[in-house]
Amino acid sequence: MSTIPDFDVTLNEQPVPAAERERILADPGWGRYFTDHMVTIQYDAERGWHDARLRPYGPIALDPASQVLHYAQELFEGLKAYRQDDGSIVTFRPFMNAARMNRSARRMAMPEIPEELFVAALEQLVRVDRDWVPTADGYSLYLRPFMFATTRALGVNQPAQEFTFAVIASPSGLYYKNGIKPVTVWLSQDYTRAAAGGTGEAKTGGNYAASFAGQAQAVANGCDQVVWLDAVEHRWVEEVGSMNLMFVYGSGAQARLLTPALTGTLLPGVTRDSMLKLAPDLGIPAEEGKISIEEWQAGCESGQISEVFGCGTAAIISPVGAVKSADREWTIGAEPGPVSMRLREELVGIQYGTRPDPYGWVH
Ligand code: COI
Repeated sequence: MSTIPDFDVTLNEQPVPAAERERILADPGWGRYFTDHMVTIQYDAERGWHDARLRPYGPIALDPASQVLHYAQELFEGLKAYRQDDGSIVTFRPFMNAARMNRSARRMAMPEIPEELFVAALEQLVRVDRDWVPTADGYSLYLRPFMFATTRALGVNQPAQEFTFAVIASPSGLYYKNGIKPVTVWLSQDYTRAAAGGTGEAKTGGNYAASFAGQAQAVANGCDQVVWLDAVEHRWVEEVGSMNLMFVYGSGAQARLLTPALTGTLLPGVTRDSMLKLAPDLGIPAEEGKISIEEWQAGCESGQISEVFGCGTAAIISPVGAVKSADREWTIGAEPGPVSMRLREELVGIQYGTRPDPYGWVH
């Protein structure tokens, strides 16, 4: 028996007029506009996943005692749909997002969703809202699947039994509107993002809620993004903002890539994983390891570390140009480095179909 229920389809009778949609698509910004439809699928312990709907985008009514509103039992994912030169539309590694949502679900005592159903929900939404997938270079339709606990109960002795899974979509321009410029980052020594045994490797809203104060502190110190360090010694580098971090050692034919290993406190990024697979095929050895802030600073000062960048679905890559903390400060470079840009170009080429996809990543 198929695990995919039929979607009940209700089309939006008042979609955004075409002219207005085109105006939005010309300059969508990031995460500001949403398409005409959304998907919702319900879960309860008795029936499993059921009541799959494609319906007009709009408010979701929640009981004020819904568990998500009190205890943040929530998961989300992020991926993009890309318009190809021939007009067709693809997504990038959607099954990897599905698998990650299910790993997050296990950590958050939430139900797993069949990967085929997760991907079918994306397909339904992209198909009906295909005119919202931008055509401009580097633009895409950002897809945001999420899941939350709707059980009406304030008790915390037992996890929720009812959940909603939903997908919304938002046309996205360039995450960095003024071009790819290296950012200045702040080493957060007051706040930590995640500790061993916590929820750091789950893509759950609470991790992001807890990050806002650290991000605000970075901005207050004249920086663009916050770098998260380990929770015990506050010296091992973990992530930057909501992205994974990559360090380029050496340059030219000697360049190699290092990224902090997935110790349980880091988010296992799809872009991170893609970089680790792409780089060696471009002749850039890549490894997962450990790097301290002292090693980072010394590596930049000796010239051993030539480039540093954050990577994630939203921004793709974000070069780091300078680093600051309460007691230290150093620079990396004022321009994006060649290795960062080469990797970005290769990945974007696969996503937009201008380069072959030997990995079978596009869907
Ligand atoms: C990403 O880099 O894609 C993210 O997860 C960022 C998102 C929270 C805006």
